[in-house]
Amino acid sequence: MINEKNGVFTLSSTNTTYIFQANKNEQLEHLYYGSHLNEASINAKLLSTKYMQNAGTSTLYEEDSELNLGLMKQEVSTPGKGDFREPFAKISYNGGMTTLDFVFDSYEIVSAKAKTFYALPESYGSREEADTLRVTLKDKELDIKLIITYGVFSLCDVITRKAELFNYAKKNITIERLSSLQLDIDQDDFDLITFDGAWARERHINKRALTPGIVINDSKLGASSATHNPLIYISEKGCSEFSGKCYATNLIYSGNHKEVVEVTPYNQTRILTGINDSTFKWILHPNERFSTPEAIMSYSDKGFSSISRNFHYFANNNIVRGYWKNKERPVLVNSWEAFYFDFDDTQVVKLAKKAKEIGAELFVLDDGWFGDRNDDTSSLGDWQVNTSKLSEGLGNISSKIHKMNMLFGIWVEPEMISKNSNLYDKHPDWAIIIPGRKPSVGRNQFILDLSRDDVISYLEEALSNIFLLGEVDYVKWDFNRVFSDFYSSNAEISNMGEFLHRYYLGLYKLLDRLTRKFPKILFESCASGGNRYDLGMLSFMPQNWTSDCTDVYERLFIQEGTSFGYPLSAMTNHVSASPNHQTLRVSDIESRFNVAAIGNLGYEIDLNTISGNELEQVKEQIIFYKRYRKTLQFGTLARIDKMSTNKERAVWAVMNNDKSEIIVLDFRTRTISNPPLERLQIPIVDNEAFYEVFNRAQKFDLSVFGDLIYHFLPSNLLKGKAVEEISKIMQLNSEITHHRVYGEFLSKAGLILNQEYGGTGFVNEVTRVLGDYGSRLYVLKKLEI
Ligand code: DGJ
Repeated sequence: MINEKNGVFTLSSTNTTYIFQANKNEQLEHLYYGSHLNEASINAKLLSTKYMQNAGTSTLYEEDSELNLGLMKQEVSTPGKGDFREPFAKISYNGGMTTLDFVFDSYEIVSAKAKTFYALPESYGSREEADTLRVTLKDKELDIKLIITYGVFSLCDVITRKAELFNYAKKNITIERLSSLQLDIDQDDFDLITFDGAWARERHINKRALTPGIVINDSKLGASSATHNPLIYISEKGCSEFSGKCYATNLIYSGNHKEVVEVTPYNQTRILTGINDSTFKWILHPNERFSTPEAIMSYSDKGFSSISRNFHYFANNNIVRGYWKNKERPVLVNSWEAFYFDFDDTQVVKLAKKAKEIGAELFVLDDGWFGDRNDDTSSLGDWQVNTSKLSEGLGNISSKIHKMNMLFGIWVEPEMISKNSNLYDKHPDWAIIIPGRKPSVGRNQFILDLSRDDVISYLEEALSNIFLLGEVDYVKWDFNRVFSDFYSSNAEISNMGEFLHRYYLGLYKLLDRLTRKFPKILFESCASGGNRYDLGMLSFMPQNWTSDCTDVYERLFIQEGTSFGYPLSAMTNHVSASPNHQTLRVSDIESRFNVAAIGNLGYEIDLNTISGNELEQVKEQIIFYKRYRKTLQFGTLARIDKMSTNKERAVWAVMNNDKSEIIVLDFRTRTISNPPLERLQIPIVDNEAFYEVFNRAQKFDLSVFGDLIYHFLPSNLLKGKAVEEISKIMQLNSEITHHRVYGEFLSKAGLILNQEYGGTGFVNEVTRVLGDYGSRLYVLKKLEI
């Protein structure tokens, strides 16, 4: 809900209130963002910055000798008038002047939230879900206007913000910086949490205390990046998953971003987020407008899990659109780690048959099916089938898979071009290479210049042909290098400071066209795993390949960090081989499944080479997954115990809306000798409800006991055989946990789990055999009382 009264704007969601006012000089003064306040209790005067006796070096506002803009909380800060903090906007005009003074002009309130600028992805919401406020500001001297648009999503406590600049002056102006969001807070004792990493270890949680000064979280890679995701949290000391005050922001954008967090000497904190100005400079000609990407923010006094729940809801309902919105996603088998580049029709069909046998619903042919591609040195751009591998053609392979009653998906990397390709021979100027300079290379490839309309038209046609020919149901859209050598041969770009943003406008245009043309295709975004994991891509592609690392332990850090900003439905996780290809770590296939099941499940493993026992286990896993899929994909995750915090145990609970179904992952890093009893406490259940609690039945090979098995074999016949041989014949069942208890008991007392194997005895179906990197899934179902 949005209200305006005497120049005071109140934006209310279910649990939060955001207030600002046009002050007596008509500047937008931020007043409050925090726990919900009833309209009647709001006293704007008391929230407003007290004009104080100004210190020696203060710069006072010309028309109000008491006003020090450097102390006032603002919605839109600019340089030149006394606010020396990092500015929201920096615009140069008349040979480099940057002083601006934006003041209130007008406003409008609209119910629902619709797009106002079509070139960038944006959140959306119906009348029941959202309201929009547009505040127009004008500079006091220069003929330019700034519109700030706020979206208020009541149900999930999310507020969105973006800015649009209009140049009505007769001369060009240069936008050096135009942020999407500014949030000034009257407090400085915060921690800052960022989500950082690199290839195969994306979005690890990093927390540090803020002290006076400026911290920047950004990407200059040309993608939102695995280095620093645009998502940030700031939290009061002691804030935990379930209690304490915290704020978080994110950006609906896939290019270079920058989050600035500044703590001032006056105990204030300023947060800015938007396009990274270090690779940006935009000339705005007379009568043109520029729109920033949209940013989002949320506040909670109930800890991190509460904000991530808000973000999960928001992404599922107000970002993801189209056919796959809130629709259960298929269990897939992907060919990459089974074949890499080395396959032919026979092998593909053989793997697809196994995929069908285990219960998969989608078969995905990854890299290597096109051009002359047998490794990563060639063919990107040549989107025609490689008939020396797939002699039957794509259409035939696809129809065989469809006849098996499975969906068919393929991998593409449309934004790239290999030097060794027909496309490069024809259009060398389409590659981003500075003429006369030796370019830097990534994975032997170059990026196509998507700021050019001819490139976009080529890709639209080439991809449409493939999607039609292959009757494609799913597309994995990869992006495997980042930007260097910023340059465009596009004659329309004279200022290279505009290039990267124009590239993203081009990419979004292409995605918009393709997703409209093929509304039923399930698109999955990928960038060497999660190098472009952001709300911009999610606006077109409802899911994202979380990481190239599928290691059971490393994944916990990655998925845990990712869950702070992105829903489970967006997170794709695959069960892969052991030893794992990225870490060489050995782990149990049941535990690999347990971790991969928290989100969208897939298998990326040669199903023809795994053991018969494992194949049976996989079938059972998929049956289990399908039964609880709705919750596992669209439930929200509460991180009861974080691997990132204690490194030894992760306990995550995924719950549906009314908490009638909850799936709990309990993962343990190392097993210890003579282990103490362990308790499983689940504080997020409905305390009033009565729950049935049971664990997923897992199997394990006798070989985990090594030669100890000779001491308790059931039959003398087996005693002469090697451990591996016996394991092929026999598997054991995990312990059985089955209780009926009140929610209050689970949340306050917790369950004492079955005793773990401790070196002195084993009772079948009683002793908990976990091993290193072992885990269990528990199911909680509400019962009628
Ligand atoms: C990087 C992706 O993240 C992998 O899953 C795989 O698709 C390869 N690219 C293929 O080249």
